[in-house]
Amino acid sequence: MFNQKLQGIKFEGAIMNASGVKDTETNELIKIAKSRSCAIVTKTATYSPREGNPKPRYYEGIDKTINSMGLPNPGYAVMAERIKALKKQTNKPIFGSLRLIEKKEAYWMIKSYEQQNVEVIEVNLSTPNALGKYQLCYDFEKCDEILKNVRKIVKTPIAIKVSPFLDGMQQLDFIDMIKKYKPNFIVAVNSPGNALMIDPHTKKILLKPKWGGYGGRGIKPIALGNIRRYYEELGKKTTIVGCGGIFTELDAFEHILAGASLVSIGSVFAINGPKIFEEIENRLERTLKSLDYSSISEAIGQAKEVE
Ligand code: DHB
Repeated sequence: MFNQKLQGIKFEGAIMNASGVKDTETNELIKIAKSRSCAIVTKTATYSPREGNPKPRYYEGIDKTINSMGLPNPGYAVMAERIKALKKQTNKPIFGSLRLIEKKEAYWMIKSYEQQNVEVIEVNLSTPNALGKYQLCYDFEKCDEILKNVRKIVKTPIAIKVSPFLDGMQQLDFIDMIKKYKPNFIVAVNSPGNALMIDPHTKKILLKPKWGGYGGRGIKPIALGNIRRYYEELGKKTTIVGCGGIFTELDAFEHILAGASLVSIGSVFAINGPKIFEEIENRLERTLKSLDYSSISEAIGQAKEVE
């Protein structure tokens, strides 16, 4: 097993769950704890409970998903209780994911998660499905305000979960803004929003809210491009958690070569269940050993440029 120590936290391996997939209920979280996932991310919580968007709001194919969940969650206070129960069952690092907008609310949300000793507060700036609201990550002023407030409050390491940038220069501007807040982790990337899926047989749009976030194999190149830029700009101090399009150990290896230290899986976990953590972790370990790596850190960011 390739253990890692990142930002002072121990991880047994590199594969973990991505926020939003089977990570809301206590029994779901315990299933992740019992799997080979090297950490546990909890469903992004809001201050008040939310029902989420009208159904159908999720579709799963063999290599893709689309969701417009709309942040259904019981609110941060109930999630904090679930984290408390989870902590009794596991020593794995917990990333408590939160959508933090209002200053006063953010204070109570962060403090309640810190009271449960989460190892990392994940600041989710990239929910694509808050209907009628701007996706935070593309509103740099708002992100700046949120992160400034978070940095005043938090004592634990923070992870920033970001939307995919389709323009490198825009990503560089975003990096310029976030670097003053010294992110411990960047989780790149959340599902690209504004996606639509149509069943050609019934001619129907698959989701009731129509647009949703796309997960699946197709987003890997965009995830890799985004990861590489974070790695080149922030990689000395910030740990990158790759996310997007990972179905096999080779996909995970590509994320690591681009610059990720940890790799999170969403769609493939939704499709295959918790045994997938062990499968990808074991195969990744075998792949790395067969290539004579004796640790994950030897492979991180090692993608070579064309001569
Ligand atoms: C939801 C989707 C996301 O991609 C995310 O990061 C958070 C929430 C959702 O619609 O519930």
